[in-house]
Amino acid sequence: MADNGTGTNTLSIVDNRTGKQYEVDIHEGDVIRAMDLRQIKVNDDDFGMMSYDPAFTNTASTRSTVTYIDGGKGILRYRGYPIEQLAERSTHLEVAYLLLKGELPTQTELDDFIHEVTFHTYVHENITELFEGFRYDAHAMGMVISGVAALSTFYPEAKDVHDPESRQQQIVRLIAKMPTLAAYAYRHHRGLPYNYPENELGYTANFLNMLFRIGTRTYQPNPVLERALDVLFILHADHEQNCSATTMRVIGSADADPYSAIAGSMGALYGPLHGGANEAVLRMLTRIGSVDNIPAFMEGVKKREERLMGFGHRVYKAYDPRASIIKRTADEVFEVTGRNPLLDIALELERIALNEDFFVERNLYPNVDFYSGLIYQAMGFPVEMFPVLFAIPRTVGWLAQWEEMLNDPEQKIARPRQVFVGSEPRDFVSIGDRS
Ligand code: ACO
Repeated sequence: MADNGTGTNTLSIVDNRTGKQYEVDIHEGDVIRAMDLRQIKVNDDDFGMMSYDPAFTNTASTRSTVTYIDGGKGILRYRGYPIEQLAERSTHLEVAYLLLKGELPTQTELDDFIHEVTFHTYVHENITELFEGFRYDAHAMGMVISGVAALSTFYPEAKDVHDPESRQQQIVRLIAKMPTLAAYAYRHHRGLPYNYPENELGYTANFLNMLFRIGTRTYQPNPVLERALDVLFILHADHEQNCSATTMRVIGSADADPYSAIAGSMGALYGPLHGGANEAVLRMLTRIGSVDNIPAFMEGVKKREERLMGFGHRVYKAYDPRASIIKRTADEVFEVTGRNPLLDIALELERIALNEDFFVERNLYPNVDFYSGLIYQAMGFPVEMFPVLFAIPRTVGWLAQWEEMLNDPEQKIARPRQVFVGSEPRDFVSIGDRS
């Protein structure tokens, strides 16, 4: 490593094929630009050196100011604010404002934002007809993905992604309408009439009202459960360049409208290795059934016949700070709903995992999804709703990442390279001559 005379450190690379030495600038601590490798060539016809990084395990795709994670120390901050303080002292819509605008709102700014979101919660009646087309047992995530994609046809002006005013309007609409779509999917599944949004209720209370009000004109949610859900929303609002946020940026980089891009991000989130893990955890705990069956299950994990869902993370190699907050929230919820009987299985799995070499050596700790499903189930949500409950708050993060991407002059359409390892050129063979 050397200083290139401008105060920037450089990395010296010697190409043994040619004997040439190259100097590559080191940016922001220890980052090199992949394009700087392109100068490394065997001859003028050579394409130049690329880096190969399947699953992007060591590639930064953006410079971002939204969310900071230190996976080794278990630190998560939104715009510099520790997640613990936000979960303790803030609300989901206040955090949404912070993530989107970069600063905490003043009281007037927050009131205006809440007003805007509240007055965009209705969806076009045709969306309910779209939902009627689904079977009674359609998965809620599939329904909501379709509903969000369909919204793009109701707002064709959303295609104008380079108009900041239009973007702002779609951002508000998306944050406002996601709970409505989610609640409608739930009511469809249950065969219940849809409840329209109630403007005098807050964001989370209104969601609970649309979900659970039956046979009464008014609805007041239990304040402990309302707050618990709001805290879960805060914890899930963003998580920097994860699989679904990257999907949002990739789709958005083609200038697609944000409804189509969010539908794509939701598709990524739906996967059991990502946001679908909360559903998979509940199914796993139910399948284990009792604490007595845990040793056999853990043997299966060590033999790689099973995966301990809700454990492990690409970035966190320490306890996920969100999991600690969720564990505390679970205690508060169970005071109201009664203890979820699966909690004992989850606690025992965690106790064993934190002491077993297999998990310790691989730095496998509970992630955000390990305990969240227990809370959702205690609150009365069916497991099919769990990934949807993740998607509602994460919509904020996706939109913050999308805004940042569109405003970043360095970004352009995302298009990775490949290392081609297929066939050399060969001549077409007629079908009758093929062996
Ligand atoms: N159970 C058992 N073994 C695991 C688990 C697990 N949950 N997670 C990782 N491992 C093992 C892997 O087999 C691997 O072992 P090896 O090195 O001997 O081959 C090692 O730990 C490293 O795991 P990778 O798969 O390389 O880690 P990666 O960063 O690619 O994957 C992931 C991260 C997908 C989250 C993984 O830990 C996993 O599948 N966890 C379960 C699903 C889950 O909970 N997902 C939610 C993540 S949080 C979120 O997205 C909201």
